[in-house]
Amino acid sequence: MKNKKNKGINAFDEFYRDTFKERWPKLKESFLAAKKYLAFQLNGETKEASFFDPPLVLDSGLKNYYIMDPASYFAAYELAALPGERVLDMCAAPGGKTLVLASKLSAKDSLVANERSAPRRNRLINTIKDYIGETSQIKVTGHDATKWCLYEKEVYDKILLDVPCSSERHLLEKPSLLKDWKPARSKKLAITQWTLLAGAFEVLKPGGFLMYSTCSISNLENDEVIRKLLKKYSNAEVKKIDLAEKTEFGQIFLPDTSGYGPLYFTLINKKAEA
Ligand SMILES: C[S@@+](CC[C@H](N)C(=O)[O-])C[C@H]1O[C@@H](n2cnc3c(N)ncnc32)[C@H](O)[C@@H]1O
Repeated sequence: MKNKKNKGINAFDEFYRDTFKERWPKLKESFLAAKKYLAFQLNGETKEASFFDPPLVLDSGLKNYYIMDPASYFAAYELAALPGERVLDMCAAPGGKTLVLASKLSAKDSLVANERSAPRRNRLINTIKDYIGETSQIKVTGHDATKWCLYEKEVYDKILLDVPCSSERHLLEKPSLLKDWKPARSKKLAITQWTLLAGAFEVLKPGGFLMYSTCSISNLENDEVIRKLLKKYSNAEVKKIDLAEKTEFGQIFLPDTSGYGPLYFTLINKKAEA
């Protein structure tokens, strides 16, 4: 880093210019442009939408669709549950991806939606109540996901791990948040993400699939976390998906080309034999 203070908007710019080179100014600008959204219905249907399309309340009392970034929808959709599987959404609030996972459940499946923060867990509970209603198929828990593997190992067939991350789009939308930005911020998040990912991999059944996703564009939080997993576990294997821009191990939706995201995701298989 050449920036003397190594802090604030200039350090932020320098950090991401190092990665994206001449693409960075256009990419940065696209973070502030109008976003694309889709309306997701629990019957699995989707359609283009505006963030300002208010969901209708149906005769059943449930809301008719959830507005979300198409990239988030795809990441959850690609973790398809099969009949009889146990599915875990480890960092679930406010719950958009939980709804996508729930829409694919059969009567025999069960879904655990976990969120450590109490206020955000309430949002998750309300999302489920508003769009699905009372259901015994979804259990909401409030655990620290970094410690999950101390209590359960090799239990779930499918795990969605949508980790807390740098959320650069959010930072650019609220420049006051960039005042004290430092590269150490992304490095620190990457440590937590690695703890979450390694723990989640222990909780995954052999033969199971784990979707790791972030809304960050920092390589430290994306491919570098996956690199560590592949280095540590010889039975971890990246599964090919062809939806967005390829990165070394995964895929990324970036708003300058797709109008979606940003959203990075990698689907990992825990091979049955090491
Ligand atoms: C990127 S958000 C999840 C968004 C959600 N998957 C969705 O699509 O609506 C990450 C969430 O992880 C939660 N979180 C952070 N650390 C956690 C931990 N150690 N255990 C469980 N949840 C955690 C945060 O409170 C936040 O709600």
